[in-house]
Amino acid sequence: MNSNHAIGLLDSGVGGLTVVQEIMKQLPQEKIVYFGDTARMPYGPRPQEQVRGFASQIIHFLITQEVKLIIVACNTATAAGLPFYQKEFSLPIIGVIEPGVRAALRQTRTKKIGVIGTPGTIDSKAYEESIKRHDPTVQVYSQACPLFVLIVENGLVENPETICVAEEYLRPLREAGVDVLILGCTHYPLMSHVIGKVMGPGVTLISSAAETALEAKNILARENMLRQAAPEKVKHRFFVSGNPAPFNAIGEPLLQSSLATYQVLLT
Ligand code: DGL
Repeated sequence: MNSNHAIGLLDSGVGGLTVVQEIMKQLPQEKIVYFGDTARMPYGPRPQEQVRGFASQIIHFLITQEVKLIIVACNTATAAGLPFYQKEFSLPIIGVIEPGVRAALRQTRTKKIGVIGTPGTIDSKAYEESIKRHDPTVQVYSQACPLFVLIVENGLVENPETICVAEEYLRPLREAGVDVLILGCTHYPLMSHVIGKVMGPGVTLISSAAETALEAKNILARENMLRQAAPEKVKHRFFVSGNPAPFNAIGEPLLQSSLATYQVLLT
């Protein structure tokens, strides 16, 4: 491992790019290697064991690309087995759930926190358990939003039907009176304007991206692994298991740069 190596990130698709965006902001000198498993997306409805297998396979691939730290930029894959990946591989691996929880606990006044995520993440109870570990007096209201990932991946966020879907999913959380809502899926910040509109101005939306990037920065600083080169020299690499075109169509405006995305077939 060497400080000139990249930070590796993985997700089922474009969601993890919301974490990439934050890495670029907080650690502009760092190289990024990203893998979006678009051919097998969505992960949300899949059994945990299968998601864990997919994530391990991608971590193996990222390691061949010379990475010094890996961010599992997918809540579903984090919930399915972060401790497993940490045990299986010898480099530092972090997830997105704990950082999101920390950010939410700092923000809540009423101690009523809402969590939205994929069915895999919500069924795992990973958020609920983590929040309760930090503060058992917090009330947690969870809701799976299975269609949101497909809405984002298919570029349907601005469709008029999307707000109706969001109203349907979010009604119980509004009625519960949460003051903080954790976007417990890295795809959701890409439709946060819709979610915010439905929840109203009194509810703070939490994306784990900023807090996760900060955790990566702290680990690299502690290990003396921060890259020293000038940010202009940085070259990032993006890989997908499916067709690169739809990935770039969402990723390029988001990251404000053209992406040379390569397809890698995983079997
Ligand atoms: N972005 C992912 C997450 O954070 C995965 C969504 C999916 O593929 O279902 O959970």
